[in-house]
Amino acid sequence: MKRGLFLSFEGGEGSGKSLQARGLADALTERGRDVVLTREPGGTAAGERIRDILLHAREIPLSPEAQVLLFSSARAQLVREVIHPALEAGKIVIADRFFDSTVVYQGHAHGVSLQAIREVTALAVGTLVPDRTFLLDLPVEVGLARSGWAAEARWDRFEADATDFHVRVRDAYLRLAAAEPRRFVVIAADRDEAVIAKDIRREVDALLGAPA
Ligand code: TYD
Repeated sequence: MKRGLFLSFEGGEGSGKSLQARGLADALTERGRDVVLTREPGGTAAGERIRDILLHAREIPLSPEAQVLLFSSARAQLVREVIHPALEAGKIVIADRFFDSTVVYQGHAHGVSLQAIREVTALAVGTLVPDRTFLLDLPVEVGLARSGWAAEARWDRFEADATDFHVRVRDAYLRLAAAEPRRFVVIAADRDEAVIAKDIRREVDALLGAPA
């Protein structure tokens, strides 16, 4: 029995999605809304431990299939412990990544069976789907340059060192967005931060029935 509003942010390397998710959360909080911001993997005691495994990308071998299960385990816990209770209490939940990340990164970019991911996701989140998903889209070269990704190998398990990988990620996101045009809002992320924030706010205000 969902009463709140569930928004998710997705995007590739250097897209600025985390910054925009936080900015939106702050703006809505200032207006007196009850907002819960989540980040994946993490957000629960179990999720933080799972995050720790996923972060040690270089030391612990982990197949893409195992990644699906770990990300999904963290998500299953986050949904039950944090997201559902918040939505039931009428809050606005802003998720910095949700199941689309698994479909794109492990599915389209790493080649794990999409059907298997759908089944695992159904187990993890049930029928919960974001009301709107903001896809922060930008050319791969711009994102990689912005994030200084080449120099910093923190998440290198997920980011194989080929630009190819990031191109697959971007294309997959755009295909998901095209397949679900009502849910996805594609935001051109190669623009001024404030302009991007305004576009997002306009959409959210429309959803909340508030003046822009
Ligand atoms: P994130 O913490 O959002 O970092 P960034 O903002 O730098 O993208 O995501 C960390 C990495 O985890 C990112 O490379 C994408 C990857 N990831 C997956 O591969 N699958 C998933 O299901 C999730 C949630 C993240």
